[in-house]
This record gives sequence, structure tokens and C-alpha cells, in this order.
Amino acid sequence: MSGGPLPEGDVALPARPAPPHGRRHGRRLELDSGIRVERLTGAALADRLEELATLRLAVLGEFPYLYPGSAAYEERYLSGLGSLPGGLILAAFDRGRMVAAVTGAPLDQELDSLRDPFAHAGRDLRSTFYFGEVVVLPSHRGRGVGTALLEVGESHIRQDGRFASAAFGEIVRSTDHPRRPKTYRTPDAAWRRLGYRPEPEIGGTLSWCDGGDREETAKPLRFWVKSLS
Ligand SMILES: CC(C)(COP(=O)(O)OP(=O)(O)OC[C@H]1O[C@@H](n2cnc3c(N)ncnc32)[C@H](O)[C@@H]1OP(=O)(O)O)[C@@H](O)C(=O)NCCC(=O)NCCS
Repeated sequence: MSGGPLPEGDVALPARPAPPHGRRHGRRLELDSGIRVERLTGAALADRLEELATLRLAVLGEFPYLYPGSAAYEERYLSGLGSLPGGLILAAFDRGRMVAAVTGAPLDQELDSLRDPFAHAGRDLRSTFYFGEVVVLPSHRGRGVGTALLEVGESHIRQDGRFASAAFGEIVRSTDHPRRPKTYRTPDAAWRRLGYRPEPEIGGTLSWCDGGDREETAKPLRFWVKSLS
């Protein structure tokens, strides 16, 4: 990591308890959930690569991503990210099983389709850290795991010292999208609570072929940004 080492090792997760019968009792109540967050690098990443790829493909295959992907591509991408200076991969484990993960990299090392919208809006790429996908297994959603992963990620990038802001892109799907589950819940309120704000002047798209489709389509991105100062 340029600019200094990031903290290594396990981080206890300030997760909320599972909501009984799907209902949350008190957002701020914190218990020892037994869930731990670990930064994956080197041999630890190699050992967990298949599990991480499987987790990501399971969640990215669902709405709103509908991204079919492949294990081979995921493993190549994640290995590359693991050896990229400034690349960050955090995974959350429940009794040893990976249940969630977040990836990220300095924006100046990201895809052109992510860098360009920020550059066109006059944003400084070098001082922005870009989180890729936060993915949480359905069994562990709504317990604070996703937001805690972002918070742990922020603590890593704050220690690096060169980042003034953190950002991520949300895939925008229409509210009447035919594949939107009736139970789908947008996490927007949680991102706002963490201090992220949508930045409508930074507009972009990412293209892929949705699972079941024959042709690639461009998905609009809504970028969310948080100042780290
Ligand atoms: C979005 C996601 C990463 C959030 O992680 P999480 O651990 O479930 O979220 P948290 O418990 O930290 O809370 C964040 C918000 O997620 C939302 N959420 C999404 N799905 C949920 C579910 N099945 N159960 C409960 N909350 C859910 C809630 O609105 C919650 O906000 P709230 O606290 O105001 O109710 C996770 O639900 C996920 O992987 N979802 C599938 C992919 C997705 O929708 N990604 C969003 C693209 S921007």
C-alpha cells in the first residue's frame, strides 16, 4: 500500500443481532455476534479465493446486479486486486464460514468507466478510494454486517493517509423492474447513516449481459461519496 501499511489481522465486528422473525429490535443494540472481519491478502486470500468467488457470484447473480459472471473470472479479478497496491479485500466470517465481503481500490487504479465520471466532474482521483461491491449472504442481511464492513474498510483507508474521500457506485434499476423481488429493500438509508451522499453530477454506466439476456446493456450508476476529513 503506498503511503504506509494498513492494519492487518482480525477486527471484531460491531454487528447487530439477527432480527427475530425478520423484525429488527433496536438498531443500536449491539451483541457479540461471533462474526469476525478479516483482511484477505497473500496466502490467506489464496486459501479463501474459491469461497470468496462463490459468495460474490451468489450475491452478484441476484437483483440488482443480475450479473452471471464466472468463477474463473472472479478468481483472476480477486487475485489481481489482492496484489494491487492499495487493493482491499475484507471478508466477514460466521463460525469460520464466509458470509460477507467488500472489495475496493484507489480510484486512480480502477476501470476507466469508474474513473472517467469522477474526472469529468472535476474530482481528484488520487485522493478517492473506491469500494466495489459489498455482498452479504441473504441469511446474514439486516444485522449490520454490510455497514460494518464499510466502516472497517474506512478505518483501513484512513490509516493509509492519502484518501480524502470514499466512494462507491450503486446500480440503478427501475422500481418496476420485472426481476425486482417484492421483498427487495434498498440500503440507501444505511449508506446515508454512514455519511455517504449521492452525487448526481457524477454520472456513469457499467455494461454487462444480465443473466438470461442475450445482449449487454448499460446500467446507470449512482455514485455515493463520503468525505473522510
Ligand atoms: C445491501 C447489503 C450489502 C447491505 O448489507 P446488510 O448487512 O444487509 O445491511 P445492514 O444490516 O448493515 O443494513 C443496511 C441496510 O440494508 C438493507 N437491507 C437490504 N436487504 C436487507 C435484508 N434482506 N434484510 C434486512 N435489511 C436489508 C436495509 O434497508 C438496511 O437498512 P436499515 O438499517 O435502514 O434497515 C446486503 O443486504 C446485500 O448484499 N444485498 C444484496 C445486494 C444489494 O442489494 N446491493 C446493493 C447495491 S448498492
